[in-house]
Amino acid sequence: CRFVMFVPYQYNSIMRHISIIGSGTMGNGIAHTFAQFGFDVSLVDINPDALSKALLTIADNLDRQIKKGTITDSDKLHTLGRIATYSSVADGVKAADFVVEAATENEAVKLGLFAELDRLCPAHTILASNTSSISITKIASATSRPDKVIGMHFMNPVPVMKLVEVIKGYATSVDTITTIIALSKQLDKVPVESNDYPGFVANRILMPMINEAIYALYEGVADAEAIDTVMKLGMAHPMGPLQLADFIGLDVCLSILRVLHSGFGNPKYAPCPLLVNMVAAGKLGRKSGQGFYRY
Ligand code: NAI
Repeated sequence: CRFVMFVPYQYNSIMRHISIIGSGTMGNGIAHTFAQFGFDVSLVDINPDALSKALLTIADNLDRQIKKGTITDSDKLHTLGRIATYSSVADGVKAADFVVEAATENEAVKLGLFAELDRLCPAHTILASNTSSISITKIASATSRPDKVIGMHFMNPVPVMKLVEVIKGYATSVDTITTIIALSKQLDKVPVESNDYPGFVANRILMPMINEAIYALYEGVADAEAIDTVMKLGMAHPMGPLQLADFIGLDVCLSILRVLHSGFGNPKYAPCPLLVNMVAAGKLGRKSGQGFYRY
């Protein structure tokens, strides 16, 4: 005789309090989106300037939504009212039901953060990373709860883009995956599942294209505007690859290419020397005021 115990699906009912670690390009968009859909959000960054900049960006982006007629003035007030900011990780995560880490794309930073989150968060808390390319399995191994660690990869700009890539680490449980798929839908996003290999799906395909566009510029095939125009008008891309690289951040693109290169050991992923030089020179794209274009 076998007894099958039915455990009611209840994660969503306890998913009230969301902590976002890192309030840069992605963190502010993720905080905006969760708050807009009614979640209480703690936005955490070790750099207090990044936190104040994030709140201004969120307010500007909400104003843009008001102008488009998709939200009201009162939605803006409620959204901002649901976001609290913290410069201490310990204070920002102690009440978290769910954490999305969107800190700098650096493996050592993420491993350190996940070990800290594992220590500081309640036992039921699911820990997600918004990493573009770092192994979820490796990140999970820094914790004592690898079954509750998952990739939740939002696209930039988060309030606008529909896709969420959901990445299953080696030990991620079915419950955790089901919960994050349901949560993505609650944010009006379309979740797509991927296994945990370098770059997952989105960046494995996108970054070689961006790198090739940088090589075309480096080798003098055409100038930046010409390369972007070919891809916009010839391939119906809404943005050319060089403009998109500026928008993502050239440092982020370089880190992802390095993960692809070392993860697959294939020279086709080697970052173009021009990209390496631009990052060394602090030309990081839109966020630094200059990349392939000036901002
Ligand atoms: P960013 O450089 O704009 O922001 C990162 C923020 O994390 C900074 O404000 C920094 O002060 C903070 N930070 C660093 N260490 C921290 C720590 N220990 N605790 C708390 N805060 C910390 O980076 P961005 O572009 O927002 O990227 C964040 C993550 O999102 C990365 O993993 C990246 O790969 C991923 N991503 C980026 C996309 C993009 O278009 N930029 C798209 C999708 C994912």
